[in-house]
Amino acid sequence: MAHGFDVLVIGGGVVGLSVAWRAAKQGRTVAVVDPAPASGASHAAAGMLAPVSEATYTEEPLLRLGLASLARWPAFAAELTADSGHDLDYRADGTLEVAFGADDLAVLDDLAVFVDKLGLPAERLTGRECRRLEPMLAPSVRGGLLAGADAWVDPRRVTGALLTALERRGGALVRGRMTGLRTAAGAVTGVRLATGETVGAARVILAAGAWSGALEGLPPEVLPPVRPIKGQIMRLRSPAPILQRCVRGVVHGAHVYLVPRGDGELVVGATQEEMGFDTRVTAGGLWELLRDARELVPGVTELELADVVAGLRPGTPDNLPLVGPTLLPGLSMATGHHRGGVLLAPLTAELCDDEADGELSTICSPLRFQEHP
Ligand code: GLY
Repeated sequence: MAHGFDVLVIGGGVVGLSVAWRAAKQGRTVAVVDPAPASGASHAAAGMLAPVSEATYTEEPLLRLGLASLARWPAFAAELTADSGHDLDYRADGTLEVAFGADDLAVLDDLAVFVDKLGLPAERLTGRECRRLEPMLAPSVRGGLLAGADAWVDPRRVTGALLTALERRGGALVRGRMTGLRTAAGAVTGVRLATGETVGAARVILAAGAWSGALEGLPPEVLPPVRPIKGQIMRLRSPAPILQRCVRGVVHGAHVYLVPRGDGELVVGATQEEMGFDTRVTAGGLWELLRDARELVPGVTELELADVVAGLRPGTPDNLPLVGPTLLPGLSMATGHHRGGVLLAPLTAELCDDEADGELSTICSPLRFQEHP
């Protein structure tokens, strides 16, 4: 397997597969290396495409990336559906952010002003108006903000579609583990696999999510400062959807969100834990999720428990992703997307493909953490 691809992507999650699919669509020869594609954070993710609800006021660069990628999602979803024949359960019906107390209501007022300034649709609602939209909400909900621009998608369907679309475009999937880089004259020319084989490539793109900072065989000066941030998330099932849109709120100081799927599944997420590479599902994690979800929608405890998983988000020191070329010629990155891998996948694929050097590329450049020689 020493022959060369134009692009070789390390990591088959939503980001790596999006990068690979786009490169294949542009006519490049592409391979993705992953021992278990689509099984990491993308498998756990809820799939909210909610840049405003997910970012805080102080994270304006992240918000800019999120809004730019959200704007790309309708075309990305349509093209991926056409290329794969898969339905992604993509919906753009907004997020309802709800509040219980005076403090939360004040936060919503500020958020409404902020969203309005961005020119995005946002409607402040009373508790009664919230319940008119979502009758299953708790009577204690005192107000809400309907962020109409937000959308969501089923990430498991997205990665399934990307795998199909990539294959249809002639992309190769190598189910293996990278153990090192192959270099020649100071440039990366491919990777070594655990089997001892090498795969040649003109360009290697690291998209290994939470594992990106712990990959074997990367020189220390380019090893990205990515750490795993655990999220436990559960899926409940009802015969028909009990919510029409994403609902979020702050309960006991923690953010909880409920994401409805078209088939009646309800995703409840997610914990945020700094536990290294621990992916155990814990009784305490689930208890917190259910306790908080029940405050928003008391009926959740009646639903069937369908699935519980823990995923690892790839966190970075500044919460911004690492996308673009590194100091090492031939090596690029598409990692560190923290809570926003699904949202940021279309933009990331574009930035990787174009090697663009615009403002958004500068925000995500891996060079901000690399020492120049
Ligand atoms: N994007 C939601 C989460 O990371 O929990």
